[in-house]
Amino acid sequence: MKFLVLHGPNLNLLGKREPAIYGSQTLADINASLEMLSSELGCVLSFFQSNSEGELIDAIQAAAVDCHGILINPAAYTHTSIAIRDALSAVGLPSVEVHLSNIHSRETFRHTSMLAPVAIGQICGFGRDSYLLGLRALFNHVKNK
Ligand code: DQA
Repeated sequence: MKFLVLHGPNLNLLGKREPAIYGSQTLADINASLEMLSSELGCVLSFFQSNSEGELIDAIQAAAVDCHGILINPAAYTHTSIAIRDALSAVGLPSVEVHLSNIHSRETFRHTSMLAPVAIGQICGFGRDSYLLGLRALFNHVKNK
């Protein structure tokens, strides 16, 4: 089983970026934790981060070739991107939306997700654990299908 882990804009700055909100772990730390979990589960991950919407959409389209699902933190595109939502719908792969912070307890513009309606589910507010819980949920969903 193979999954694409997609990180949206500004997540390359994790560790330095607003640590009170996003924690002190870097993106490399998060990816390393996901790698460890993937060996425990017995699945393969590929990772991609981009600050641009088009590149994220290209990665989603490419995942249709050989991936069984997508774990995505769309970052700020969560709240704006109909194009990323359409890409997820178009490829039809199961996806789980994750956020480090609890987007529902923050500014009102973060309360809406364009993507959540086309994802299996959304996990937010648990820092790095949001990704780990998301991968477990995605893995179990695909395995039990
Ligand atoms: C985020 C939450 C978004 O609202 C924000 O734009 C981000 C990060 C999170 O992981 O908490 O960039 O997706």
